[in-house]
Amino acid sequence: MTNLLEMYKCDICGNMVEVIEAGEGELVCCGQPMRKLKELTKDHEMYTEKHVPVITKTETGYNIKIGTQPHPMENEHYIVFIEANSPDKKYIKRKYLHPGEKPELDLKCDCNEIIVRAYCNIHGLWTSD
Ligand SMILES: [Fe+2]
Repeated sequence: MTNLLEMYKCDICGNMVEVIEAGEGELVCCGQPMRKLKELTKDHEMYTEKHVPVITKTETGYNIKIGTQPHPMENEHYIVFIEANSPDKKYIKRKYLHPGEKPELDLKCDCNEIIVRAYCNIHGLWTSD
């Protein structure tokens, strides 16, 4: 069984999927169950300073930076995407990034609160929640 917006990864081929609508079945890739990605938080024991999203309110919305110390954006190690959700999960914006770019997202919105997730190709999925 899955839940809305959960992310799963295949440890064999690297396929990664997000649940758009939840179902009863198990997600399988390359002949084995996909691994559900745990959302890591500020309470994680390692690497928080470069992965926990830092959210700053701006005049038109929010500025989001990944890490109090900027996360590396090198070919071998980088932030793959930054995603902002409304707390009711009705609105999502996701920005895909490439090595060399800044791990930042400027979000225009009039929402009172956002929840951010960011995915590091080495250290996994992180959340502000
Ligand atoms: Fe990382």
